[in-house]
Amino acid sequence: MAKRKKQKKKRTRPAPDKYDLYQRSVQEPEADVKFLQRLFKKQFGRPARILREDFCGTAYLSCTWAAKHQENRAWGIDLDPEPLAWGEKHNLSKLSEEAQSRVHLVKGNVLSAQTPPADINAAFNFSYFLFKTRDELRGYFEKARTTLAEEGLFVLDAYGGADAQRRQREVREHEGFDYVWDQDVFDPITHDVVNYIHFEFRRRKRMKRAFTYHWRLWSLPEIQELLGEAGYSDVGVYWEGVEADTDEGNGVFTRRKHAPDDPAWIAYIVAVR
Ligand SMILES: C[S@@+](CC[C@H](N)C(=O)[O-])C[C@H]1O[C@@H](n2cnc3c(N)ncnc32)[C@H](O)[C@@H]1O
Repeated sequence: MAKRKKQKKKRTRPAPDKYDLYQRSVQEPEADVKFLQRLFKKQFGRPARILREDFCGTAYLSCTWAAKHQENRAWGIDLDPEPLAWGEKHNLSKLSEEAQSRVHLVKGNVLSAQTPPADINAAFNFSYFLFKTRDELRGYFEKARTTLAEEGLFVLDAYGGADAQRRQREVREHEGFDYVWDQDVFDPITHDVVNYIHFEFRRRKRMKRAFTYHWRLWSLPEIQELLGEAGYSDVGVYWEGVEADTDEGNGVFTRRKHAPDDPAWIAYIVAVR
């Protein structure tokens, strides 16, 4: 009798999940919450308690916000049910039942979703770049202003610099995968851009175009002007400081009127209602 060959057990690795990879490589909600609280305290002398997260995706920020303090409440708004459902399963479910009751996921349009007056409306990861005309962007900024309490802040981020205005790829290594930021199109006449996020692995097929963005690359002067036109009483740009020895960004953002011509920067724009 022939010896039966011992069958090699196939190890099944769980398939990588694009939202998990995105959260691990793109988002830093702990730092965001700290920054938002610092801004609000400086402006109004008290902690913020109600957050509205426009374009919330998986609501990672909203869930982190609620976990931070028992009085914190969050409303996350997104059009797409897929990231919302993912966030409910993977982010919201990790909170205590009590904290979960303070997070509200809204499947809706940021231009029309109704939420209680917020201390802060945060729209992160450049999501508002999807508005491509001045009228559309001003319209969104006006709407965001109406979502705020009388003492309220609207906080956005933006990216730019010479490197943002050309086709290029940037690869960042993470544990178990590479994150690839692929600037595939930049049109100097319209400032239309098409960007992709790919994920690459050592022993797996790459996850090509896990996320696709069709945006207009807005400049900081345009954004500040439109926020002013939308009625905000004060608008400031927060620029990242640099480590003295490496000249790399140090993660500390302070309000600045002027900045050096960094070839690739990320900044925050803070508008007071
Ligand atoms: C770039 S992702 C941002 C996710 C998350 N805020 C972050 O910081 O990583 C943009 C999200 O905006 C959502 N979105 C696009 N247009 C929207 C709209 N008009 N109203 C609400 N959500 C919208 C998309 O479904 C997507 O989840």
